[in-house]
Amino acid sequence: MALYSEKVMDHFTNPRNVGVIENADGIGEVGNAKCGDIMKIYLKIENETIVDVKFETFGCGSAIASSSMATEMIMGKSIHEALALTNKAVTEALGGLPAHKIHCSVLAEEAIKNALKDYFDKNNIPYDKSQFPDCANCAHCH
Ligand code: FES
Repeated sequence: MALYSEKVMDHFTNPRNVGVIENADGIGEVGNAKCGDIMKIYLKIENETIVDVKFETFGCGSAIASSSMATEMIMGKSIHEALALTNKAVTEALGGLPAHKIHCSVLAEEAIKNALKDYFDKNNIPYDKSQFPDCANCAHCH
């Protein structure tokens, strides 16, 4: 079996929603200290709906494919649906990732969550802090 699924190769070689949103309503940036990869997600939100999403990823092919797929999965969705997106769902939508590449999809989930948190913070919207990654106490970057 090939190491990467056709979907991963497709999203890696032809990533969707690459770029920057000027005046984004929420921006999330996360990095993985071990591999050095960085992902940035921009959200445009109207009436609690994600009307546009773009990403910039400086990272491996799996991180690029994961960001591309994740942006497609939250486009047009409510902020609550976006908040519920897991790296497992992204990995499944990509047709799987090799075990040592799962952390790349975690980056996509965390970047989206951080962008939503940024939106909530900027608009003084209360939220449940336990729904967001706690970078200071998370083991995976240390
Ligand atoms: Fe760093 Fe994939 S190896 S995100």
